[in-house]
Amino acid sequence: MAIAIRTDKEIDLIRDAGRIVGRILKRLEKESVVGVTTAHLAEISDQMIEEAGADPLFKGVKNPKASFAFPASICASINEELVHGIPGQRKLCFGDILSIDCGVRLKGYCGDAAITVMIGQVQPEIQKLVITTREVLDIAVTECRPGRYWSEIAGKMQSHAERTGFSVVRDYVGHGIGRKMHEDPKIPNFVSDELLQNDFMLRKGMILAVEPMVNMGTSRVKVLSDGWTVVTADHKPSAHFEHTLAITDCGAEVLTESE
Ligand code: CO
Repeated sequence: MAIAIRTDKEIDLIRDAGRIVGRILKRLEKESVVGVTTAHLAEISDQMIEEAGADPLFKGVKNPKASFAFPASICASINEELVHGIPGQRKLCFGDILSIDCGVRLKGYCGDAAITVMIGQVQPEIQKLVITTREVLDIAVTECRPGRYWSEIAGKMQSHAERTGFSVVRDYVGHGIGRKMHEDPKIPNFVSDELLQNDFMLRKGMILAVEPMVNMGTSRVKVLSDGWTVVTADHKPSAHFEHTLAITDCGAEVLTESE
C-alpha cells in the first residue's frame, strides 16, 4: 500500500477544493430547515459548484449494486440513513437529523466533507449522538501528527463513541484523497485485526478524509433496494461528520473549512 505524500503546492490546491466544499456545507446547513426538500439543497450545491468552476465528485459515480449512477452533487441522508442518501422530494421535518456529504474537484485535486444538521429541536438522545460524532471527528483532528500510528487515533475515536453508549459503523470507512476521491489507505474509525495488519504511520504531506459514522443502536447496516441508500439495520438514527485533513509538522490542518 503506497500512501501519497503531497507537496505544499498540492496541499494548497486540495485546500482550494476543500474550501469550496466547506462553503457549500455552511450554506446548506443554513438552508436545512423544516419543509425544505433535499432536492432543493442539491440544486444549491450544483449551482455553487458551477459558480466556483469546480466539478462534483459524487454525480455520475457508478455502483455495482445500483441500476443507475449517483444522480446528485451531495448525498442527503435522513435519520436512520447514514450515507449515500439520494436527494429527492422528501421534506425535512422538525426533529430530523440530516447528514450532508459533498465533494468537489478543482484543478485536478479533490476535497470531501460531511456534516450532520439538526432540524429544529431534536430529541436529547439524538442531539447527544450528533454532538458525540462531531467530537469523534475532532479527536482525529487534535490527535493526528507525524510519527503516530493511525490505530492509536482510531482507538481513541472508537472509545469516545462507545463510552457514550453508541456504536461505530464497520462497513464504511474514511479514505486517502488527492487526485482521486478515494485513494489509499482505508481509514477506519475503529480498531480491527485488519487495521492492525495494515496499520500506517502518519507522515507530513499525507491527506486523509476522516469520516466517522456513529449509530445510536447497532453498528450493523444494510443497503436499500435503490442500491445506494445505506441505513442502520435497526432503523435507529446515525450521524456522520467528515473533514479532509493534511498532516503537517504541527499536527492536522483541516482543508475543508469554509474560510
Ligand atoms: Co469521504
